[in-house]
Amino acid sequence: MSEPIVPDAAPWRATVLTLYPEMFPGPLGHSLSGDALARGTWSLEPRQIREHGLGRHRNVDDTPAGGGAGMVLRCDVLGAAIDAATPADDARPRLLMSPRGKPLSQARVRALAEGPGAIIVCGRFEGVDERVIEARNLEEVSIGDYVLSGGEIAALVLIDACVRLLPGVMGKHASGVEESFEGGLLEYPHYTRPREWEGRTIPDVLMGGNHAAIARWRADRSRALTRARRPDLLQRDES
Ligand code: ADE
Repeated sequence: MSEPIVPDAAPWRATVLTLYPEMFPGPLGHSLSGDALARGTWSLEPRQIREHGLGRHRNVDDTPAGGGAGMVLRCDVLGAAIDAATPADDARPRLLMSPRGKPLSQARVRALAEGPGAIIVCGRFEGVDERVIEARNLEEVSIGDYVLSGGEIAALVLIDACVRLLPGVMGKHASGVEESFEGGLLEYPHYTRPREWEGRTIPDVLMGGNHAAIARWRADRSRALTRARRPDLLQRDES
């Protein structure tokens, strides 16, 4: 049997600038994203920032102006690494993973997935010299209100969230429209066999075959869960 014809759309391209390129593809080489990477639905180019480091030791960082703890990624080094990775006509957004960034949302993920890909800079040390953020128009993105030891794991999270939305990646799995956040609400609870387990049963309405009643129950559970756990989402939904 012939394979279904997929229009040869250009693959979604992720370029990752990092001091730890060996961390990629890591978990993205497995499961749905790994299969899609092997099929060429998306491509991944990890690039070593240190190749643009200075001197015999290829230094990439220095002490913070004004004093204080930690080291700061140099603007000249990161600027050169970005320029080498991106031709002038590269339309992809340039992201800097940082706890200081705007929180990543499903809406931003969807917009990124619909575009040509992303150039993702992974921060390390105490931070990145502010001048390169301004001069290379880096959009700072956070994956949550906690601090990781670097941007690599955050970049993996962002790429995973985008790649699963690319055409054909989720295959016969859900289209993504009924899952948490897509409707502005958390997802309703799921059940499968056995019908009874450790004295716990599946809610009767799900076994009754009344699709309108099932849809009402699910909408109701979504709303109740969201009210209990994420009232901030409901406020957004109701405004
Ligand atoms: N780097 C360190 N912490 C981070 C976070 N919460 N989000 C994105 N990048 C980070």
